Amino acid sequence: MLKAIILIGSPQKGTRFRPLSLEIPKPLFPIAGHPILYHLIESCAQLRELREILLIGCYQPNEALSRFIANAQQTFNTSIRYLQEYASLGTGGGIYHFRDLIKSNLSDKDVFFVINGDICADLPLVEMLQFHRENVGEKGFTILGTEATERQSTNYGCIAWDKQTNEVKHYVEKPSTFVSTTINCGVYVFTKFIFQILSETYRNNQQLYNESIPISHDSSSAFTNYDLGFSRENIRLEKDVLSKLGGTGQLYVFPMGNKFWTSIKNPSSVIYANRHYLELYRMYHPERLYKQNDSKGPTIIGDVFIHPTACVAPSAVLGPNVSIGQDVTIGYGVRVRESIILGSCVLQDHCCVLYSIIAWNSTVGPWSRVEGTPNDPDPNKQFSKIEQDSLFQDGKLHPSITVIGNNVSIPGEVVVLNAVVLPHKEIGSSSKNQIIL
Ligand code: GDD
Ligand code: GTP
Repeated sequence: MLKAIILIGSPQKGTRFRPLSLEIPKPLFPIAGHPILYHLIESCAQLRELREILLIGCYQPNEALSRFIANAQQTFNTSIRYLQEYASLGTGGGIYHFRDLIKSNLSDKDVFFVINGDICADLPLVEMLQFHRENVGEKGFTILGTEATERQSTNYGCIAWDKQTNEVKHYVEKPSTFVSTTINCGVYVFTKFIFQILSETYRNNQQLYNESIPISHDSSSAFTNYDLGFSRENIRLEKDVLSKLGGTGQLYVFPMGNKFWTSIKNPSSVIYANRHYLELYRMYHPERLYKQNDSKGPTIIGDVFIHPTACVAPSAVLGPNVSIGQDVTIGYGVRVRESIILGSCVLQDHCCVLYSIIAWNSTVGPWSRVEGTPNDPDPNKQFSKIEQDSLFQDGKLHPSITVIGNNVSIPGEVVVLNAVVLPHKEIGSSSKNQIIL
């Protein structure tokens, strides 16, 4: 028996991802034609013993999520359930809150995966499970690690480990100074024993909470726990649990080597993940990529995904690294490269879209040009990850990929360069390095 838990967060998270997360929860955002969650579930489905996937988050159940779950259950033939937290309980609080559901049907020897819902990767879950079974005892846990540059490592959980035994000697979450270039990928193998640790952590946190907040806990109080921005059940898996497990002989790291991994924080990381997922399609599912048909289809360069319902003019040139969504219309002479065009968009004749994301139902007029600046990892630095910056740096908009929100209308013959356009806008003229509100 094997289960996987995916932490899908809450609507308050994903701020750097706006405006793309205004319409649907970030984990449902499509990359290479499928939602981020779909790719994670697909990785889990490679585990033969997998019986159930639990999605834990703080979103109100909504139609998009329910439809996604129903479809994914059918596609992967596994039970998938959504468990909603009553408030953001942190990366460990939700797991603890739903412990009875997670523990049900698991024996002491059985393990379960916990996966952050905002990562995209070529996840080696089968190999990680095998490593765990062969090297880690019943009371031990395994964390997936990858390499980053020294400078970037401090944006992640950092793992100092023994290269002979793989034991984690020291774990620090987002340290202020350099600790290790091995970082936490947000994927864990746990056994039921983690709940003992979470229970101790919960009790400690309760005590700290009661000591540190001198307010009345009766319901008539003017302040509630919600006003304070966190719930008393909140547990941070990384800071409250993993940091304490370093050096105890209970935590091990499984390094994923050079395989693709990124967390998804801003739109630039989406373009980067799109390229890598398309590359994985080429290796493992070539049937998902569009195959050039010399006699009538568009010209295709490199890896391109086109939804079967999209209508693309034969003189369009697409690629490399382009994903075209459902019911998109692409006119004559259009050029698209390193971009994602989401459902029902219309790219009119001879427009050009480079390094951009165009969200649902938007239109780009004829001969217009929508272009962003790539923020790719530094190719000259080994293990370099994509920068997860926010939109602004030193009070200025940082040149980045262009993001066009949904239902935006761009007229003909304009240039939109390094811009973020919020949903439902009609752009009047060209714009450069701007957020169009
Ligand atoms: N259900 C639920 N409830 N999920 C949550 C909550 C919560 O209250 N808070 C965060 N999550 C989910 C997020 O949706 C995301 O998928 C994941 O947990 C990580 O949360 P973040 O708080 O955004 O952490 P981070 O991405 O900055 O850092 C984590 O991930 C890195 C790898 O991407 C840490 O685990 C780092 O150590 C790690 O390197
Ligand atoms: P490649 O040969 O494709 O590598 O192009 P490049 O790197 O020399 O050019 P660039 O990245 O600027 O543009 C990518 C493609 O888009 C080129 O093939 C251009 O011909 C095409 N392109 C550039 N601007 C426009 C435009 O305004 N309209 C259309 N239809 N195509 C354009």
